[in-house]
Amino acid sequence: MSFKMTDKVTWVGKIDWELRTFHGDEYSTHRGSSYNSYLIRDKKTVLIDTVWEPFAEEYVEKLKKEIDLNEIDYIIAQHSEIDHSGALPLLMKEIPNTPIYCTSNGAKILKGHFHEDWNFVEVKTGDTLDIGESTLTFVEARMLHWPDSMMTYMSGENILFSNDAFGQHYASDLMYNDLVDQGELYQEAVKYYANILTPFSVLVTNKIKEVLGFNLPLNMIATSHGIIWRDNPAQIVEKYLEWADAYQENQITIVYDTMWNGTKRMAEAISEGIKSVNKDVTVKLYNAANSDKNDVITELFKSKAILFGSSTVNKSIMHATAGILEMIKGIGFKNKKSAAFGSYGWSGESVAVIEQKLKDAKLEIVQEGIKELWNPDAEATSRCIEFGKNFAEKL
Ligand code: FEO
Repeated sequence: MSFKMTDKVTWVGKIDWELRTFHGDEYSTHRGSSYNSYLIRDKKTVLIDTVWEPFAEEYVEKLKKEIDLNEIDYIIAQHSEIDHSGALPLLMKEIPNTPIYCTSNGAKILKGHFHEDWNFVEVKTGDTLDIGESTLTFVEARMLHWPDSMMTYMSGENILFSNDAFGQHYASDLMYNDLVDQGELYQEAVKYYANILTPFSVLVTNKIKEVLGFNLPLNMIATSHGIIWRDNPAQIVEKYLEWADAYQENQITIVYDTMWNGTKRMAEAISEGIKSVNKDVTVKLYNAANSDKNDVITELFKSKAILFGSSTVNKSIMHATAGILEMIKGIGFKNKKSAAFGSYGWSGESVAVIEQKLKDAKLEIVQEGIKELWNPDAEATSRCIEFGKNFAEKL
């Protein structure tokens, strides 16, 4: 499948309907993904990005049906992560001397991945490539989300090829933002931001302001994953500015692990206490052991406050909650209040362990954690309800 986006630009990527995990098992992809590659035909012919290696053969064969590969004047490798560069080795076997435009970090990483001395042309922000009626302008986007990342703006067609930025792991043959289910689209876009881009939020804000400063007309944002933003493409730019600014909704999320449901009952009682004080707040509960970790991270991203609970096991906490706590330490959420809770049988270290992890993640702990022995009885349940009330009142 390929399709024309404009007279000059054709999508030549791959929709990966089967993908269910990405980055090893670091990111769940319930709705698949796509690897978007773009062919520009002006006086010069340009290929922007390729696809993931398992699809390399299929990609090159389809590309041959679209164009004589020898007609490709330039390849632009906006990002060397192998979901976009994986087909380069096979493609370069066919057209080994074609220049590859990339950042200096891009050249280093591509050499590191493929150990090939291709004809790299290193570019910086503001460098241009005249391809006929249109001009391509490169914009480095260092650490958005790799050191090599860059974007490319095409004048005339007014398309920003943004690579990973503004993308979503979302397979759809409808291809454009205005044609797909908006709930699905934004669920995948915010999940992508929460899990992948949150650590770089300051850079996101600065880069968007820098690009907006160029005052470029914008007809489309052509990302490297998911749909192309053509209907009011500025909407996702505005969303990114919101998401990058310590984003929160009126939501509290409670994440827990539980061995025999004691900690689960505590979570439910805490939730009841919160709601008794604030009926408008959304409270969501997730058992970390049976929830998708990236969906949980997305809910934590949207929350103004988060609570973690675990039974005590082996003087520590259970592994699923520990995993989420380790993830949020790396992601670096800002401006979220927190507290800990957990049930125990004898030694009862879980609350202290969670509190240390919340501190390590630089989250503000608004009140001392609560622990209850065995299965909470009526009195213990009342204490948990009170704990929830106090927590809500401190927000
Ligand atoms: Fe879609 Fe960072 O690769």
